[in-house]
Amino acid sequence: MEEALTTIRQESILDLRNAASEADIYQVKSKYIGRSGSLTQLIKNLITIPAEQRAVVGKLANEIKKSIEAGVEDALKCLRENKKQQAMGRVDIDLTLPGRCQSLGRRHPITQVTDEIVSVFTELGFQMAEGPEIELDFFNFEALNIPKDHPARDMHDTFYISAEVLLRTHTSPVQIRTMQQTKPPLRIICPGKVYRCDSDVSHTPMFHQIEGLMVDNDISFGDLKGILTLFLHRIFSEKTSIRFRPSFFPFTEPSAEVDIQCVICRGKGCRVCKGTGWLEILGCGMVQPAVFRNVGYDPETTTGFAFGLGVERVAMLKYGINDIRLFFENDLRFLSQF
Ligand code: FA5
Ligand code: MG
Repeated sequence: MEEALTTIRQESILDLRNAASEADIYQVKSKYIGRSGSLTQLIKNLITIPAEQRAVVGKLANEIKKSIEAGVEDALKCLRENKKQQAMGRVDIDLTLPGRCQSLGRRHPITQVTDEIVSVFTELGFQMAEGPEIELDFFNFEALNIPKDHPARDMHDTFYISAEVLLRTHTSPVQIRTMQQTKPPLRIICPGKVYRCDSDVSHTPMFHQIEGLMVDNDISFGDLKGILTLFLHRIFSEKTSIRFRPSFFPFTEPSAEVDIQCVICRGKGCRVCKGTGWLEILGCGMVQPAVFRNVGYDPETTTGFAFGLGVERVAMLKYGINDIRLFFENDLRFLSQF
């Protein structure tokens, strides 16, 4: 019986070596270890041999069975690997073709302009400050000297979430939050998103503002004008026409708005500047004593100026864009120009 086993071992190795297809391999498997395979039969007949030999022969038979099983697995693996290699060899790769370009992302024009503006002010010693976009009525209005029944609330077409909670309509609440937490002197710059129920060629319901606040004990309107003029000359050019126009904000006194000559029509009047030849880019003024009182500063000894700038407006003027809504349509043909 041992002799028969040795023969099975040798023949199965040869058979597997000659098997050229999966079917051949499975045939070899069934020839030896299938239900009526020769090794299977032989194992069944083990009971016919004397008990003392049975253990030795049985062990050998099991070893051979295991090695045939492993041989079958190896042969199958090898065959599949070969097939894969052949398939790959058949694919025509033209190494002379130019590679496919990865398209690169870039910063949104609004982000670029924001960074540029912020860097002018950080060079002047202003520090970054932030506040929430979902804001309390208290910070957005009350503390800025705009009580509930004040007509100035009509200027902000506010999105209310509840009676006391709203989407901030400007970045001015960051002034209050920062002053509550810091003692003067103070120089901050706060970029962020703001929301108003408003939409046309120069207004969008979400836009970006940059708030600036400078507080000390001897700040004058001259400082305000000087810093803003310097800033505008840096962002635009020294030749750009700028005008300070008297205006009103409950949280500043006196107040002004700054206009830049419309670049679309060069001041002649068009759809973008609503025929005026000028585009308003920021509101500003000397901080109201009432606001200082609301944050616990002494209005007798504290002075300061503040401004709030529309980033999209600056970007429109800088790049000659005639519709603010283009910034938010995410059309790559537009965005990839910057
Ligand atoms: C304000 O929001 C004041 N908080 C500015 C301020 C701050 C004054 C500190 C004094 C002291 P106003 O509503 O004018 O002001 O908005 C400021 C700027 O935001 C405008 O000059 C304009 O450039 C821009 N802006 C206003 N509404 C929109 C809009 N719907 N879409 C795009 N830009 C807008
Ligand atoms: Mg305004």
